[in-house]
Amino acid sequence: MKGILICGGSGTRLKPLTDTTHKSLLKVGGKPLIHYPLKVLLDAGITDIMLITGPTFAGDFMQFLGSGAKFGCDFTYRIQDEPKGIAHALALAESFADEEPVCAMLGDNIFANNLSEDIKAFEGNGGHLFLKEVDDPERFGVAETAIRDPRSAISEVISLEEKPETPKSNLAVTGCYLFAGDCFEIIKTLNPSDRGELEITDVSKAYLDRNELTATVIEKDWIDAGTFEALERAEEIVKNI
Ligand code: DAU
Repeated sequence: MKGILICGGSGTRLKPLTDTTHKSLLKVGGKPLIHYPLKVLLDAGITDIMLITGPTFAGDFMQFLGSGAKFGCDFTYRIQDEPKGIAHALALAESFADEEPVCAMLGDNIFANNLSEDIKAFEGNGGHLFLKEVDDPERFGVAETAIRDPRSAISEVISLEEKPETPKSNLAVTGCYLFAGDCFEIIKTLNPSDRGELEITDVSKAYLDRNELTATVIEKDWIDAGTFEALERAEEIVKNI
């Protein structure tokens, strides 16, 4: 399985902090934020990792991460010229993935749970999401689930919406996506959303339409550190990791 760190975007909600560096390089718990999603991949034994970012701060990522030798992994870098969506960024990893399944991590997500067991268990068919109960689901992708097997922590996803006005559940889709190697073929069929982006939620929806989308509901803290308030909360969360 290949690892993808998705770190493009414009970081508008964190301006002026993001005028001088990328959101994923802001310090949380004394470390650049990217350290946390990177650790999810490393903990799962994934060492072949592509980092995708925009042109502005690519050099800063390279300066911090280097070849990967100091983390025991191997980095490949790719530039997303314009922030045309998370799925658009992921598409840039097609030749790197080389038909293997991928674990795509958003560069601004911090998980207190260890996700390695589920990542390692992914057999490379369809898609698998990690969901977390939140008070403000309308800010995220939102999933509805049905229990597949009461003895298993894995649920079936039965509906999925990106930032719905009236969420059908309080389960937010977090920024760790396990997709089969055919996710790149799916992205080629997508159209831009109303906000003009290729949406990662539409990739998951394609698997849902084929009844090939499962999810794990995580119990411990999770944060998308994309706002000032969330960054403060992230400091608290990492103290407990
Ligand atoms: O954090 C989880 C949420 O992430 C999900 O619940 C949503 O379904 C998903 O759409 C996404 O929502 P956000 O509004 O938080 O996405 P954001 O624009 O903040 O982008 C997330 C990361 O992806 C961020 O690190 C920047 C990167 N990105 C974003 C865009 C739009 C790219 O690399 N390229 C892009 O073009």
